Amino acid sequence: MDAIDNLLGRYSTPAKQLQEPAPSDDQLNTLFQAAVTAPDHGNLQPWSFILIRGEARHKLGDVFAEAYQLRDPSVDSEALENYRNKPLRAPLLIAVVAKITPGNPKIPVQEQIISAACAAQHIQLGAQAMGFGSIWLTGINTRDWKVCEALGLDFDDKIVGYLYLGTPPEQPSIPPRPDASQFVREWTEPSDAQDTVI
Ligand SMILES: Cc1cc2nc3c(=O)[nH]c(=O)nc-3n(C[C@H](O)[C@H](O)[C@H](O)COP(=O)(O)O)c2cc1C
Repeated sequence: MDAIDNLLGRYSTPAKQLQEPAPSDDQLNTLFQAAVTAPDHGNLQPWSFILIRGEARHKLGDVFAEAYQLRDPSVDSEALENYRNKPLRAPLLIAVVAKITPGNPKIPVQEQIISAACAAQHIQLGAQAMGFGSIWLTGINTRDWKVCEALGLDFDDKIVGYLYLGTPPEQPSIPPRPDASQFVREWTEPSDAQDTVI
């Protein structure tokens, strides 16, 4: 697929609509090579990619449920089951982790997270170019320390998202996009501070 068509036609697939097959190991290798071309200030390589598929999805669901119960011991069984089933919605998940180097005088944490997020987007775009669908999801399971611990994260690591991947429906619903020109302006000289409304 032409690279520009791939960009202009980018869309997410609701996780429940993602079916087998997911990308093969060879295809995943290509996607991870694409991920590590992400812009990266200072060449910190601030990312790691955790594959979760097959039976491991059930174990991750158990972790989500246990973490929920620890946060809220009064949680009802229906809500717990909902959390347990979250990773089962798609054949493959990739937890994209920002591996943070704290205290870098030139490269703040924010830039390291942005870089990992760019890597995640490369995976999504690459997967779409191969004919796969995906969606980037976050929520409390990116921030709960029990979940981070179960995934083997270090203290400063941040999960930037779970990419759910698989084969999309034959007729995906692609959302309309706004006209980009409304977000663009040309700057030619400093604004007059007196005109600025605070
Ligand atoms: C950092 C980040 C976190 C997101 N987290 C969620 C989420 O938890 N739940 C959700 O429904 N969509 C989430 N999204 C949005 C979806 O990935 C997706 O972009 C959205 O459904 C719009 O669909 P589109 O990508 O086809 O425009 C997130 C996107 C980003 C970039």
